[in-house]
Amino acid sequence: MKALVLAGGSGTRLRPITHTSAKQLVPVANKPVLFYGLEAIAAAGVREVGMVVGDTHEEIEAAVGDGSAFGLEVTYLRQQAPLGLAHAVLIAREYLGEEDFVMYLGDNFIVGGIEPLVRRFEDERPDAQIMLTRVPDPRQFGVAQLDAAGRVVGLEEKPEKPKSDLALVGVYLFSPAVHEAVAALKPSWRGELEITEAIQWLIDAGRPVASTVISGYWKDTGNVADMLEVNRLVLEDVEQRLDGDVDGASEIIGRVVVEAGAKVANSRIVGPVIIGAGAVVRDSYVGPFTSVAENCQLVDSEIEYSILLRRASILGVRRIEASLIGHDVEVTPAPNTPRAHRLVLGDHSKVQISS
Ligand code: TTP
Repeated sequence: MKALVLAGGSGTRLRPITHTSAKQLVPVANKPVLFYGLEAIAAAGVREVGMVVGDTHEEIEAAVGDGSAFGLEVTYLRQQAPLGLAHAVLIAREYLGEEDFVMYLGDNFIVGGIEPLVRRFEDERPDAQIMLTRVPDPRQFGVAQLDAAGRVVGLEEKPEKPKSDLALVGVYLFSPAVHEAVAALKPSWRGELEITEAIQWLIDAGRPVASTVISGYWKDTGNVADMLEVNRLVLEDVEQRLDGDVDGASEIIGRVVVEAGAKVANSRIVGPVIIGAGAVVRDSYVGPFTSVAENCQLVDSEIEYSILLRRASILGVRRIEASLIGHDVEVTPAPNTPRAHRLVLGDHSKVQISS
């Protein structure tokens, strides 16, 4: 079995972060979300990974390399434009050959790994196996309809009137039969080759399509709220580890990681929190569910339930919460008079200012 990891796409929902960075590399507890997926693939015993990349290919390649750090052999497959999940399968046709494969969306986060799913697929060997989870509002997802025996009888992409509350999760297993289905597809109304249509094609052709309803945790980290929520979930599991420099005037409460080379001075940190190598936290409060990446600076500020990317600095600002702050960003207070805001904001930025 091979893996096909989708790390292209346009990431419109995470703009402006995704103007300059790949969304799959946004860190969760200071580790790119994509790395959790690669670790899950390696843990399931899969070695060969085709990584579909788009405009952000250089950044992904720099982060993942040849995959050996994960025990994987990664081959990069360039997708000229994000023309759909099934399009990614189409361009990977030669790489995948006649092997079964697990397709993993590089911005998805699944607790508990994929090993049981891979084993089940190998035992039963249907032509497709999909993962489903119950969601409160299925209209933004691919939605599956099951018969009484739990077989998949129909799929719809982002339906206005969903026939169930079972949404497709970003891990799919396929036999080579999917290539025939993909080759038969036409672009949908949104101009993409839809993987749901490929699976529907298999169902219509009488091919076996299995499903597993997972009750564990799954999130598509495509938007900021989900990103923060996944960060919260991963931080829930950290254990206290103070390898960096914490001075006597600081108070560390609960599960806090201070990486070697980080400095905490005269600050109060209430876990779960992770502070990356080279970061400086001085005269500040860092509250629960915050990830501060390498070489950030937090001085005379308050922050909680947020993600800071590398080298971001927050100087003299209280109080920041539920925020995703990009790399090399500077946040500083405005001078009191005159009362005006001076902003340099990238396209599609979202800022809330009290005025
Ligand atoms: P999506 O989140 O569905 O799409 P997107 O990346 O274009 O994001 P947005 O909706 O915010 O504009 O993609 C799921 C994953 O698959 C993600 O890791 C990107 C990847 N992908 C590709 O590699 N190629 C594609 O053609 C598409 C559509 C997605």
